[in-house]
Amino acid sequence: FFLSPAEFVKSATNLSMIPENTMIPEVAFVGRSNIGKSSLINGLVNRNGLVKTSSKPGHTRMMNFFKLGDKLSLVDMPGYGWKSRDEWGGMIISYLQNRKNLRRIYILMDPSHGLKESDAQIMKLLDSSGLSYQVVLTKMDRLSKTKYSAAKAEIEAELVKGSICCFPLVLGVSSKTKDGLDELRAAIVKASQL
Ligand code: GTP
Ligand code: MG
Repeated sequence: FFLSPAEFVKSATNLSMIPENTMIPEVAFVGRSNIGKSSLINGLVNRNGLVKTSSKPGHTRMMNFFKLGDKLSLVDMPGYGWKSRDEWGGMIISYLQNRKNLRRIYILMDPSHGLKESDAQIMKLLDSSGLSYQVVLTKMDRLSKTKYSAAKAEIEAELVKGSICCFPLVLGVSSKTKDGLDELRAAIVKASQL
């Protein structure tokens, strides 16, 4: 099944531009630049080109809001690690901490890079704010099954150590082959009903 039809709502460069707090359940996608956030949203809604993607890191510079009727709102974020931490921090952290209809934050990681310091920092922040997040491993197609499993196990071991608000299931996806997208869609629908 698909999360569709999806439509673009708005881009925001500062908090005042964010669509007003609606009752529509919202999920947001964060992660380092070039990790595959924008590609994943295209894959989830099955519409290539809805969100612009690029092989160059730092492509998405604004928060972009998309919606599926009045059922679900999806938010694409600029990558951290591109903008300076303060710049990324100001608006986005405030959005994450204050958005009442935000049901879950998806933190995307590349299994061939592992869990980075910037990921640990954002998880710490979400834990301290009591915000529910789930880890999604992207670009699965780039690793053999064996290497992917080993990388996933390593990341899971890191998560077990310190995370509090982390949903215990780590999902894997490939926007290229569409592997794992159905599982993620199901998780999003479930999270949006919480
Ligand atoms: P920023 O907007 O810069 O933060 O990046 P992003 O996280 O939105 O990444 P984006 O979706 O633009 O993808 C970055 C690059 O990774 C592009 O060249 C994509 O084609 C590639 N990519 C994304 N998903 C996959 C995937 O599942 N498999 C493979 N092989 N490449 C992917
Ligand atoms: Mg992007």
